[in-house]
Formats: sequence, structure tokens, C-alpha cells
Amino acid sequence: METHEINKRFISYFERSGHTPVPSASLILDDPTLLFVNAGMVQFKPYFLGEVPPPYPRATSIQKCVRTGDIDEVGKTTRHNTFFQMAGNFSFGDYFKEGAISRAWELITSSADEGGFGFDPERIWATVYEHDAETAGLWRKVTGIPSERIQYRGAEDNYWDMGVPGPGGPCSEIYYDRGPEFGRDGGPAVDEDRYLEIWNLVFMQDIRGEVSPKKGAPVLGELPKKNIDTGMGVERVAYLLQGVDNVYETDLVRPVIARAEEFSGRRYGADHVDDVRFRVIADHARSGVMLIGDGVTPGNEARGYVLRRLLRRIVRSVRLLGVHEPVLTEFAAVVRDAMAPSYPEIARDFDRISEVMRVEEEAFLTTLTSGVRIFDLAAEETKRSGGDILAGDKAFQLHDTYGFPIDLTLEMAEEQGLSVDEDGFRTLMEEQRQRAKADAASRKQGRGDLSVYREMLERHGETDFLGYTDLQSTSKVIGLLVDGAPARSAGAGTKAELVLDRTPFYAESGGQVADTGILVGSGVELKVLDVQKVVPGLFVHRVEVLAGEVGIDTEVTASVDGTRRAAIARSHSATHLVHAAVRGAYGRRAAQAGSLNSPGRMRFDFTTPGSVSAGVLTEVEEEVNDYLQTDAEVQTYVTTKDKALELGAVALFGEKYGNDVRVVDMGEYSRELCGGTHVGRIGELGLVKLVSDASIGSGVHRVEALVGTDALRHVRKEQLLVSQLAGTFKVPADQLPARIEDVLTRLRNAEKEIDQLRTQQVLGSAGSLADKAADVGGVALVAERLEGDVDAGAVRALATEVRNRLGSRPGVVALFAPQGEKVSFVVATTAAARDKGLAAGKLVPAFAPAVGGRGGGKPDMAQGGGSDPSGIDRAIAALRDAVARE
Ligand code: ALA
Repeated sequence: METHEINKRFISYFERSGHTPVPSASLILDDPTLLFVNAGMVQFKPYFLGEVPPPYPRATSIQKCVRTGDIDEVGKTTRHNTFFQMAGNFSFGDYFKEGAISRAWELITSSADEGGFGFDPERIWATVYEHDAETAGLWRKVTGIPSERIQYRGAEDNYWDMGVPGPGGPCSEIYYDRGPEFGRDGGPAVDEDRYLEIWNLVFMQDIRGEVSPKKGAPVLGELPKKNIDTGMGVERVAYLLQGVDNVYETDLVRPVIARAEEFSGRRYGADHVDDVRFRVIADHARSGVMLIGDGVTPGNEARGYVLRRLLRRIVRSVRLLGVHEPVLTEFAAVVRDAMAPSYPEIARDFDRISEVMRVEEEAFLTTLTSGVRIFDLAAEETKRSGGDILAGDKAFQLHDTYGFPIDLTLEMAEEQGLSVDEDGFRTLMEEQRQRAKADAASRKQGRGDLSVYREMLERHGETDFLGYTDLQSTSKVIGLLVDGAPARSAGAGTKAELVLDRTPFYAESGGQVADTGILVGSGVELKVLDVQKVVPGLFVHRVEVLAGEVGIDTEVTASVDGTRRAAIARSHSATHLVHAAVRGAYGRRAAQAGSLNSPGRMRFDFTTPGSVSAGVLTEVEEEVNDYLQTDAEVQTYVTTKDKALELGAVALFGEKYGNDVRVVDMGEYSRELCGGTHVGRIGELGLVKLVSDASIGSGVHRVEALVGTDALRHVRKEQLLVSQLAGTFKVPADQLPARIEDVLTRLRNAEKEIDQLRTQQVLGSAGSLADKAADVGGVALVAERLEGDVDAGAVRALATEVRNRLGSRPGVVALFAPQGEKVSFVVATTAAARDKGLAAGKLVPAFAPAVGGRGGGKPDMAQGGGSDPSGIDRAIAALRDAVARE
């Protein structure tokens, strides 16, 4: 059964049983506790927690998931994928244990003809949480599984939570027995390879605290309702139903292996070590495509780093299979063909995905090339000093600076007959890990630990936000933190975090920066530097105490800096208008990818399938400014999400919305779900001037604009610049482009001429150099240091010229040109010298080390460079000896 068919059957089975099908959420759903979505329930978390009423009592989804915790296991076991699909059914306070068990059982055991998966019921085992006899009883009652095939297990195995504070509960897992040839008897408790987990049923009923009940910690409390969250591993079911040996050989993954076989000329299944590489390539290529598809770009931190690591592991594995050409985009195309039937956006967005891969691979191949050079030097040095172990710090440097995984270094060392000081390498790695850990720990003291904020929220409820209508309020301090810890008071000069019962200050969100301003109470004055909703609903003001002392219960007048707020509102309203205009130009395929609304300046990122022409942005700018003249009124209102979407409001991809949403209308032109603050009428914007547009990462476009007075100032500045240039070049402004072009052409010609003259001058010394030829055992040897700044091309030309002048004599010419800290050299031999066995390429190793360098070439001419010009005399002597020996 094909994977797409498995997905289809799952959804239609649950749809028939009253579940609303919900599309997969983006892999990077905005949840600050998670790097990537790693389970089907993530998008439903607010429903489980009771933060938002669920729009349906039952749901079903096939969720894209990424888990990279076991990345080193990929390819080595039968079941570890970094990207996988989790099929799930969810009940929000509707059916509970029995409903989950009976449905899962029916779907997996009913025959393929009846729309099920047709698993043999005799081979199914179930595990239950050790204290959950009720569930064991239900398994027996509902499915008839005998007690022998139901195993009790501890919290470690049969309690599930997200790995972070949030919903959790005991679970019951369904296993399939692959048969005695795959391992020992005794059920999942004994052997999880033979008994393969295919489905986890979680009885979501608890709120987990900082420490997981998996580790024996008590739960914080109960969820408002008893819920069901299940996850069936689609790839695992596929591998069982397709009769293959592991998740990498299933229909959606195996084609990449086939492509890698074509590239490498090696066969999958022939060699265990190669097989692991093939599987890593197939798994990671798919994860890479899906992540880029959801907007991740390679980088050095967080999500970007994970993606980069996956892509580099592919390139490395491909190289170890003997392929040195760029390959990523080829694999990406195979992944697209396999995945597009379930994820059409991958095909739609493929040009961008493929471009991101191409650029990343090119960059890595370049560092790989520099890394290989470093490696070669280190290997050469090791051998020269008579050793056969490459130092641990070299392996570490290759890893740290050039991104070389240790096994790549090991492999390359082996090719050179060397081993690597792996212990030394690991010690350095461990030291680095410790440094990173210390760093993370110190950050955690900042904001990592959210429990004090959560407590505050629980005690006082959400902050009352007044800032849509008021810029000033009388408020009371209800929470105070100094250095991240609760404090009773804070005196002048202290920085603190402060929670008010109600506030006019806007907290940064939706791309709009936070308000700033002041808080004044009797004898106390504070400056508000920043405001963040550290946990949803709780406005935390970062303040500096300017005078007096603030404490819990202090009454203050809170005043937002109104001028700044007005400039921010203008930016934010401008963003909506630009967004509407961009959608007008590109249709629904242009999606907002991010924005920043700061005083007087806005930034708007959007994705487009193709490139963005300058003409379109000019039109966008003009359309927006035209519309400003209508002075349309900005209206905001709260309605239900469904109603808003029905009205055509634009919602942002990947944003979470509750049931009640705020809508911002600007006349008929723009309608968006938005929690930001805006102008009253759009005429207030005055002027919107686009000042830059650029592609940031492929497929994502960024425009920046200035609004109002800031826009005017910008125009004036540019105007001034133009008139200054016109003055300098002494032409009217409209003739500037032609004039500058003309000056540049003349400059380029002059440079060319200088180069030619310089070469002529250098060549002019050929005669005198040839005259310096010394007779070394019947060979005319010219070995000289050149003075002045002579570039490598000129050195080569000069060496050729000197060699010509040596005519038919056996002759060797070696010229060294120092350039700052470096030196380049060229060796040339005459035909008669080559007849005597003097090959230029072979002479290089005799003297190059003296200048700290290397090089090589053909018998008639070789060149290279080094890093130690002070060794030129020694190099000349070494060359003389080498020539004399011939
Ligand atoms: N959320 C559960 C899991 O990920 C179903 O295993």
C-alpha cells in the first residue's frame, strides 16, 4: 500500500467517524518552546490547555514532523527518520480511552478491501501505563487481545508529554510483531526492533510542570477536560505494509537512494557502510526539502543550523560514496516528485527550494575545498615529521571552522595512511560543549525559565490592555522582578521587569515594536524601555528606575510616548497597505513572511514564486500612495475567526488565532486579522516611500519603506546627494549617469594600460636575469628573488621569457615574488633540461617547504605559493642542490 494511500485511508476513516480533517500545520508553527513541530498535537495545544475553545470536538490530521534528537541513528536502525508524518485523531473532551482504542483497532485490523490496513490481529501487542489497569481491561474487552499480549510499562515508556511544560498524560502504545527472525520473544518490553511501535494513544489529562512525570515528577494539575491525542507513524506502517526492511526503503524515500546509486555507480545493499550513507542521503534530502518548503533557510543558529547540518551530512555522505559534483538539487527533485501528491506546495515552490539547496551546497563545497587544503597540509606535516597520527586539534579545527564531520576527516586520513587522534578531538569537542552549556545556562537565567511569569499569570490573570484607545492610565504594580527573580522593591538606577494590572503600553507582537514611555508615581519615576508578552496575555515591562523606589502595589500613571506611537501606527498601517498592493500584484501566491513596524519605518517580507521586478514595486508604491488620497477610515472590530475569514480577511500563515479575532479594515482596500495599533484615517500616513528591496534568501523578498515625515526626509536627502554629485561632476543632474559611465570607462582603460606597462617593465628585466645564469653541473640555473610588487601572472610571463633566452641550453628558471606576507613562485625548464630529467613539477617539493608553501605543475612549467618570504634564500639553495643532484 502506497504511503499516500495510507494517509488517505486514515483521514477518511476518521472523517467517517465524525472527525474534522485539519491540514498539517507548518513545521515551524510559532511555538517558542519548540524548534520544529514534532507531533500531530502541537497545533491543537491551546485546545488541550483550554486556552481557546476548540472549534470542533474531534479532529484528524496528517502532520509533518521533524525530530533531530536521534540524527546519529538515522540509517543505522530500521526506524529513525528526521522527517516523518504523524497520522492522528484527536478528541477535545469528547470520547476518551475506549473510543480511541476501538477506532485504532478497527482501522489497523480491518482488511484492505474494507478500507483498513489489514494487520494480522494475532500479531498486535499493546502496552499500557503501569498504574492503568483500566486501559488494559479495555483492550481485552474491546479487541479481545489476550492478557499475554498486553504489557505494563513505567512512566519512562508509557507517559507522554511534549518534552516541555504543557499538556501530557499516560499513553498506550500499539506494536506489531515482525516475527521471530527479527529478535527475541517477549513483547515490546524485551525487543523494540522485532516488536515495532506503530501507534501511540495518549490520554491527555494532565498539566506537566518543569520536570516531566516521565522522570517521576508530580503533575501540576489536571487539564480542564479529558482528551485524546494519538500518533500513528505513517512511515512505519508503510514499511510494514510494503514488505520492505526499513523506513528508508518505503515508496517515498527509496527513489532518492536510487538516484544516489546512479550518481555513485555503487549499489545499495552491497556494503553495510555504504548503505548507511545511502539512507542518510535519502532521509536528510527529504527533511531538507520539507523544511525549506516551510521557510527555513540554512544558518548558524537554531532551525537554520539544523537544516544546514542535514544538508552538509548529505554532501558529506555523497562524497564518501565517491561523488564530488553538486547533487542536492537533483535529490530535491526526486523528493518533490515523491512528496508532491500529498504536499502540492513543494512542487509549487520548488524553484525556491532548489535554489536554497544549490546555494548552500556551493558554499559548503567551497569550505570543503579550503578544508581539504588544510587537511592536506596537516597530513603532509604529520608525515614529514615521521608521524602517522593526525593531531586532535587539526581534526577539531576542521570540524569547527570548515564543518568537517569527524568521520570525513577519518576517512580522508585513512586514504593517506594516517590515523587521527580521536581522543584529543573528543576532548576538544567536549570542552566546546561545556562552554556552550555554560552559555545556555546563563541565558536561561534571563528568560529561559518561564515559571515565575506563569505563576503571575495564574495569580492575576491577563493584563488589561488599554492601548487601543488610551495612551495613559492609572495602574498598579502587581509583579516585580529584578535579575529574573521576584523582588519586593527596586530603587533608583535598577533595571527591573514589571507587571501592571492594566497598561496602555503595546507589547511587541505581530511585527510591531513595543511602546516606550514613562511611569510616574508618588516620589518614583521609571522609564519603560521595552514591553514583551513573555507568556501569552502577560505584559512584562522592562524598566529602569530613574528616581525613588518602586514596589508591589505602587500606583503609577503610565504614559506612552505618543509621538513615537503615532509614528509606529503609521508604519503598521503602511505595512497593511503594502501587503494589499503586493497581493494585488501577485495574487494569493504572495504570502507575508514577516514584518517590522518601527517608528517611521516599515519592513515587509513576502514570498513569491518567481523573481520580483523593479517595475512591480514602483507600481506598488504608486498604488499605495494613490490610495492614501482617499483618506479612508481605519476600522477595527472583533468577530469570530470563521466570520472574519468569510469576509476575506487575510490571516497570516503559521499564526495561531483564537476563536475571537480582531480585524483591521482600511476602506475596501485591505482587511487583515491584526492585533496592532493603527492610524484613524489613512491620510495620516502622508507619504509612503519604498527605499529598498532585496531578495533575502531565495524566494523571500524584502521591501522597506519610510512613512510620513521620515519619507519626506529621505527624499530630501537623496535630492541633496544628487545635487552634490552634479556639482562634483559639473553636469546637470539628468546627465549624471552618462557622465559617471564615461569616467568609469576611462578609469578602466587607464588601469589596463598601467598593467601592460608594468608587465613590459618586468619583462624588460628578462635579459639581465638570463645573464645571471649560473652553471650548476652543466645546467644554466637562474634562481632569483624579484623586487617590487609583481603579480603571479607577470612572474609566469617573465619566467617564460627568461627560459626563451636560455635557448637550447639545459636551463632551469625559478623566480620568487614576495608580496607582503606571502610569496609566489614559478619554475620553468628548457627542453634540453627536461631531456636530462629535470621536470619543473618535480622540482617544486624540493624547495617549496622552505617558503612554507606548496605547488605543482607540468614538466615545463610549475607554480605555487608560500607563506614565508624570509625563506626565499633557503629555497634557492635547496633548488640548486636539487638541480646539482640530477
Ligand atoms: N503526541 C503523541 C506522540 O507524539 C501521540 O507520540
